[in-house]
Amino acid sequence: MASDTTDPTASSRYAAVHAASLADPEGFWLEAAKAIDWISPPTRAFDGAAGAYGRWFPDATLNACHNAVDRHVEAGRGDQSAILYDSPVAGAKRRVTYAELRDAVATLAAVLADLGVNRGDRVVIYMPMVPEALFAMLACARLGAVHSVVFGGFAANELAIRIEDATPKVVVAASCGIEPSRIVPYKPLLDAAIAASTHKPDACLILQRPQREADLVAGRDHDWAQAVADATAAGRRADCAAMAATDPLYILYTSGTTGKPKGVVRDTGGYCVALTWSMPNLYDVKPGEVYFCASDIGWVVGHSYIVYAPLLHGCTTVLYEGKPVGTPDAGAFWRLIAEYGIACLFTAPTALRAVKKEDPRAELVAGYDLSGFRSLFLAGERADPDSVAWAERALDRPVIDHWWQTETGWAIAGNPVGIGQLPVKHGSACRPMPGYDLHVLDEAGKPVPADTMGTIALKLPLPPGCLPTLWGSDERFAQSYLTTFPGYYDTSDAGVVDADGYVTVLGRTDDIINVAGHRLSTGGMEAVLSAHPDVAECAVIGIRDALKGEQPCGFVVLKSGVSRDTGEIERELVASIRERIGPVAAFKLALTVARLPKTRSGKILRGTMKKIADGEAWTMPATIDDAGVLEEIGESLKGRGIGG
Ligand code: COA
Ligand code: AMP
Repeated sequence: MASDTTDPTASSRYAAVHAASLADPEGFWLEAAKAIDWISPPTRAFDGAAGAYGRWFPDATLNACHNAVDRHVEAGRGDQSAILYDSPVAGAKRRVTYAELRDAVATLAAVLADLGVNRGDRVVIYMPMVPEALFAMLACARLGAVHSVVFGGFAANELAIRIEDATPKVVVAASCGIEPSRIVPYKPLLDAAIAASTHKPDACLILQRPQREADLVAGRDHDWAQAVADATAAGRRADCAAMAATDPLYILYTSGTTGKPKGVVRDTGGYCVALTWSMPNLYDVKPGEVYFCASDIGWVVGHSYIVYAPLLHGCTTVLYEGKPVGTPDAGAFWRLIAEYGIACLFTAPTALRAVKKEDPRAELVAGYDLSGFRSLFLAGERADPDSVAWAERALDRPVIDHWWQTETGWAIAGNPVGIGQLPVKHGSACRPMPGYDLHVLDEAGKPVPADTMGTIALKLPLPPGCLPTLWGSDERFAQSYLTTFPGYYDTSDAGVVDADGYVTVLGRTDDIINVAGHRLSTGGMEAVLSAHPDVAECAVIGIRDALKGEQPCGFVVLKSGVSRDTGEIERELVASIRERIGPVAAFKLALTVARLPKTRSGKILRGTMKKIADGEAWTMPATIDDAGVLEEIGESLKGRGIGG
């Protein structure tokens, strides 16, 4: 008779925990809610009649900053490190204790209040990975203001779009960011963005960095250091505001299919509860331990696991202003783990691939004491089995892929190490997290059998932490996510679930591509290329890239009669994407072609073009208008050493 001890999942509490979360969401999330401090605790977890699909903790009040900062000082963690800032690019390190963090945040909140920021007002934060960026986020949370952090690698135009949509009262920015190869002056980008936006903030608070100080605009710009010094001298500090659990904590813009970014709204109570649940149960981390998420605060992973989750849980968070390689070498992560006693590292597969490429035999690992290190988590794109296996060998620790979206705020699927690790299957993001009722559907919305590809959809309601709506547009929220499959949230990710319930995410069903773990809209890039005066039509696809997962490639057809040098036009197109979207788009490949392959109804055959570029087998679509065009595409790619 088979013993159940042979079942490798038997020692995990996962199945019982996930089942309980779906069978009794009220009980499950009210219990989880006990881990945070409430001003007025929830008497019920969920109101199904509110919002687009219901709202979490509808009758409760709390403050996210109090939960992430003050309560730990009150509980005796004042001298513990809250933030360990490590910047090889600035040549700086700084330790901020919880007590220092509380003082810095309370003072900065008073500065923002003096600039007119009230609860509910928006504050755009355009800053690199410095402690002051976290102070700014938490100061907003303290006041009940809604922050919207914009990634530094975006161009002025993208910042302008976000300022226009969020209508911030104040913008908080740094004078510059630092990339290994160059200083990135942020202030000229900010000035250009404000000039381009019809909405003008009342004030800007500027952190001057010594690497590149900025000119301040009289009457609008305020010097951070001066404002904080004045507030400190006057003994000004702001208290934590009592916020409804359903009040927005932040807006984070992410690529949408139209090229107009979507303002993902995060509410306060559900987010605090879900993230706090995840720290011990998913990541197996205890209060007081050191957690390192090597993302950027401009992305959702950075919001959740550089800032909020580690601090909510009373951990020490490592804030790393550097790269996985080149600052100074591929041992950077291992150096940080040893130096700060990091228990858990969370990074993107692309960063791991960069390290693997530089140090294929992981020789640099041997130079560091990793004895306190327990697990490596990966997200942002599918973790390729090769890289996972490499990291397992190099580190001799669990390497866990987990699947995320900006919209969800925390993992949809993962391997919950804290409640008993499930067997790892390379290439799979493991099992759905609590509250996620995950299904793979066909085009008609019917569930498909195990191991069959379809669209991954989440049965409503979404669990706490996930977006309740898009900023200023309930309609776009419903239309983007809730209409494809009534009763479900459409993830726009294709995937399969196997017979053991393991989820494998295979790629997007829309025009979003994933470049170095960054989510980009090809539609947005096409809009920029089409705006070039010589371009008649264009198509942008993501083609396979060994390091970044995908890289964008733009095909352009020139207007008839254009006789300029195509190389020159292509260089202009590359420059225009950098100028309009930003360096983060990593757009380096523009190809002039005579025609684009289309169906007889005029649809561009992007999927087939991608297969040709990726060197995959492809078949001639029956609906193609002119079969010769695909050969021309193949030839032009071959001319650049791609495909074939
Ligand atoms: N501010 C300004 N510019 C930035 C920037 C920032 N915060 N971040 C990146 N850029 C620029 C880079 O300098 C680069 O510019 P370049 O074209 O002049 O070289 C461009 O944007 C593309 O950057 P990136 O895609 O990051 O490539 P890279 O070659 O600099 O680094 C990796 C490659 C793999 C090391 C890097 O992409 C990486 O660490 N990725 C991890 C991504 C991640 O954590 N994502 C979060 C998802 S969880
Ligand atoms: P973002 O909103 O920027 O976090 O990007 C979300 C998208 O990244 C998802 O819709 C997926 O397409 C992709 N993604 C993130 N994590 C994973 C993962 N672990 N496996 C596969 N795809 C992932």
